[in-house]
Amino acid sequence: MKSIVILISGRGSNMEAIVHACQREGWPARIAAVVSNKASAEGLQFAAAQGIATAVVDHKAFPSREAFDAELARVIDGFSPDVVVLAGFMRILTEGFVRHFEGRMLNIHPSLLPAFPGLHTHERAIEAGCKLAGATVHFVTPALDHGPIVLQAAVPLLAGDTAQDLSTRVLAQEHVIYPQAVRWLVEGALDTEDGVVRHREGAAQVRWGG
Ligand code: GRF
Repeated sequence: MKSIVILISGRGSNMEAIVHACQREGWPARIAAVVSNKASAEGLQFAAAQGIATAVVDHKAFPSREAFDAELARVIDGFSPDVVVLAGFMRILTEGFVRHFEGRMLNIHPSLLPAFPGLHTHERAIEAGCKLAGATVHFVTPALDHGPIVLQAAVPLLAGDTAQDLSTRVLAQEHVIYPQAVRWLVEGALDTEDGVVRHREGAAQVRWGG
């Protein structure tokens, strides 16, 4: 049985989708803990109600990014995770932290990477006149919102869409592709070579959510 630790900063809807998929589909894994940098993260209540261990490491209590990341890594390591999942975890992580979990840490970003890393992705896609938008699950590397791509979902960007409209459309796809990608990692179904991730049995690593 593999152990998964999920990091959140807020709502935690991706975390919920992963918890539900793990239970429903009977993954060879358990969610060992949900960890947040904010005590007020709504997702912590859901996790606790599911009987999942929760922990808070408040970044404001630490003098530096390095000190915060060291404590965060210590807390995560306490749950002996095989897989670490960043699910709306809104902190930039130090290289040391990322290296410690490299190859077993995933992130989801609400754009078709490498387009629009960073914040305000939906506004930027609308301003750029994109006709496609989407979400990307990728392995975490020290560069923000970069790293080998596991799975992407594309959705249409329609005339008149607001950032909220697009966010809603993309989020529905996030809730499909993130559990799928975590499951693949748990099952050992992914190979990475020269920064390119392939599913061993050729499962589709793209999803159309139009
Ligand atoms: C998602 O859009 C995710 O892609 C981004 O932050 C948001 C988190 O939402 N990284 P939630 O907390 O999972 O509901």
